[in-house]
Amino acid sequence: MPTSKIIVKNLTHTYNKGLAYETHAIDDVSFEVAEGEFCSIVGHTGSGKSTLIQHLNGLLKPTSGTVTVGGVDVTAKGASVIDIRRKTGMVFQYPEYQLFEETVYLDVAFGPKNLGIPEEEIEARVKEAMALVNLDFNEYAHRSPFELSGGQKRMAAIAGVLAMRPEVLILDEPTAGLDPKSHEDILALVADIRRKTGCTVLLVSHNMDDVAALSDRVFVMAAGRVVKVGPSEEVFAEEDFMKGIGLGVPRARAFASLLARKGLALPRAERILTPETLLEALTP
Ligand SMILES: Nc1ncnc2c1ncn2[C@@H]1O[C@H](COP(=O)(O)OP(=O)(O)O)[C@@H](O)[C@H]1O
Ligand SMILES: [Mg+2]
Repeated sequence: MPTSKIIVKNLTHTYNKGLAYETHAIDDVSFEVAEGEFCSIVGHTGSGKSTLIQHLNGLLKPTSGTVTVGGVDVTAKGASVIDIRRKTGMVFQYPEYQLFEETVYLDVAFGPKNLGIPEEEIEARVKEAMALVNLDFNEYAHRSPFELSGGQKRMAAIAGVLAMRPEVLILDEPTAGLDPKSHEDILALVADIRRKTGCTVLLVSHNMDDVAALSDRVFVMAAGRVVKVGPSEEVFAEEDFMKGIGLGVPRARAFASLLARKGLALPRAERILTPETLLEALTP
């Protein structure tokens, strides 16, 4: 029987433990994610999303509990950083702030170099990653990353993570602060990467439309706990609950609910989460 790709068991993380201002950022969280699954993590600011995901690449060590990614116990003392980085690719919030090399090529190559990938393979990896994010190699590889547009900078930063060919891709609010076009580009990219590489994806997002469009399952966090988890349709069916914790539901679902309240209930309303499923329900 295949084991899950990600196994989080009784994870607790307390910042500044023992001090007067200690914070229980993660409080006894357990879940599993299957190989190839696309899961989103939603929750109010401060609910513990970023703290949680930083345990999956060994950046933070648990106060208690364990985290296993692709069979590697990333919480074990002496767990190899290289082994962990090969498993988990992490796209931090505003990843473009971490671009620092002279050229896009060198920035994208930075991760694989650190993994000890042989020099002759690195160029192939850079080309592959730049192609995935739709940055033309000939046009951009030898430019300074600082000459790129905001959206392109973020794409270049994501390419640096993809060049490590992670088995698990984690993105922390990857569309934050982007214009609508770049926002759409990033979403299409995430869907595309998943389709092309089959990697397992964890997406942290505040945008319920994006979450509904992409996710197999949704984890809802509040005050350091996972308070709800299930397929998107089930989680967003609980509209009052989602509104109650300040998150809301996808716009298509809110619209379907509004129609229902006006006595215009659509068929299979529970499946309406995206503009596409809304259109389907409206088409006789
Ligand atoms: N480096 C840190 N030191 C101390 N407290 C932190 C640190 N990072 C986050 N916190 C606190 O932990 C809690 C969870 O934060 P975070 O994981 O950033 O939540 P989210 O990503 O959902 O906004 C918050 O109360 C936050 O203030
Ligand atoms: Mg965060």
